[in-house]
Amino acid sequence: MIVGVPREIKPGEQRVALTPAGAQALVEGGHRVVVETEAGTGSGIRDEEYAAVGAELAAVDDVWRQAEMILKVKEPVAAEYPRLRGGQLLFTYLHLAPAPELTRTLRASDVIAVAYETVQRSDGSLPLLTPMSEVAGRLAVQEGAFYLGRAHGGRGILLGGVPGVPPGNVVVLGAGTVGLNAVRVAVGLGADVSVLDVNPDRLRAVDDLYRGRVVTIMSNAFNIQAVVRRADLLVGAVLIAGARAPVLVTAAMVATMKEGAVIVDVAVDQGGCVETVRPTTLLDPTYVVSGVVHYGVANMPALVPRTSTFALANATLPYVLHLAARGPRDAVRADPALARGVNVWRGRIIHPAVASALGEAPATLDPVA
Ligand SMILES: NC(=O)c1ccc[n+]([C@@H]2O[C@H](COP(=O)([O-])OP(=O)(O)OC[C@H]3O[C@@H](n4cnc5c(N)ncnc54)[C@H](O)[C@@H]3O)[C@@H](O)[C@H]2O)c1
Repeated sequence: MIVGVPREIKPGEQRVALTPAGAQALVEGGHRVVVETEAGTGSGIRDEEYAAVGAELAAVDDVWRQAEMILKVKEPVAAEYPRLRGGQLLFTYLHLAPAPELTRTLRASDVIAVAYETVQRSDGSLPLLTPMSEVAGRLAVQEGAFYLGRAHGGRGILLGGVPGVPPGNVVVLGAGTVGLNAVRVAVGLGADVSVLDVNPDRLRAVDDLYRGRVVTIMSNAFNIQAVVRRADLLVGAVLIAGARAPVLVTAAMVATMKEGAVIVDVAVDQGGCVETVRPTTLLDPTYVVSGVVHYGVANMPALVPRTSTFALANATLPYVLHLAARGPRDAVRADPALARGVNVWRGRIIHPAVASALGEAPATLDPVA
């Protein structure tokens, strides 16, 4: 198969969908890899690194024209719509449910669109979303620690403390992928860490792992009210799959927090779990409400594109190799997780949530797969 990797042109996007290791694996599998010149620059990957493993470097027109499978990070933007070709396989993050115009474009262009975010294993896990949650969770504490610096608007707290001075208090709401990765970094920095979840099994897992080093607390309004007052850094990491994040921390609770405390609400991309949080950008990440620094960056992994590129590519590569080796029809037939990733198949909308966003019933994959 001819696999094309365009440079991402969505504003601010510095990731690339394939690393040289992935290109090498594809070439060794007998495929052709065509990478757009400078596609890896934002992630610190040079053209020569792709060329060295047998990938071809090409201009953007050639990449899209030749490729049977287009590997991307973000959904196509308007400038890329005319490049989509009938029968072409597009494998990328799509987030189509809130983007009906793009869904219609993909349907009209007759492509096979497989979305990273809906590839789902039988246990419900989302293997191509997990790596970005891992990045965001670890980054949440790193960013929070930075903004706790006095010069950055915070309380002037060193999270680990020093001998004779107690460590800072970190409260993590939600013990899923983001939350556990935040806990891990907060513990690593030597902070005093508490984590809340509604699922006792998640708390049990934390308790087993950290053996009392991390305080686990059942998530309810009463307990949240108590912990936020103490928090120097509050990390929002809750998710109810497919729904807006629940507002767990009200504006009134924020008003009880310490002056210069920091809130990093990672769940901001689902509406946020703190009432006073709104989406911000990496160029202007924070603002202050009731004396509390709020950080609401909706695309945190973009701050560390190199790490994010390698993390994402590690997760996508097995699916890429499978799609390239078997072709889309056989590949989705053989792998139900990948089949759940199919959003649009040559003019037919397959994914139920994507179809319902257009007010339509989904088509079944069976006759095509
Ligand atoms: N801002 C970013 O850049 C970025 C990056 C990656 C992920 N995210 C977002 O981070 C959020 C968390 O993602 P995840 O991968 O950790 O999800 P996850 O499903 O692994 O974890 C969510 C956790 O929230 C818990 N939860 C649900 N309701 C709760 C409540 N009322 N109180 C406490 N806990 C509750 C669940 O039990 C679960 O353990 C999502 O909204 C995701 O979209 C944002």
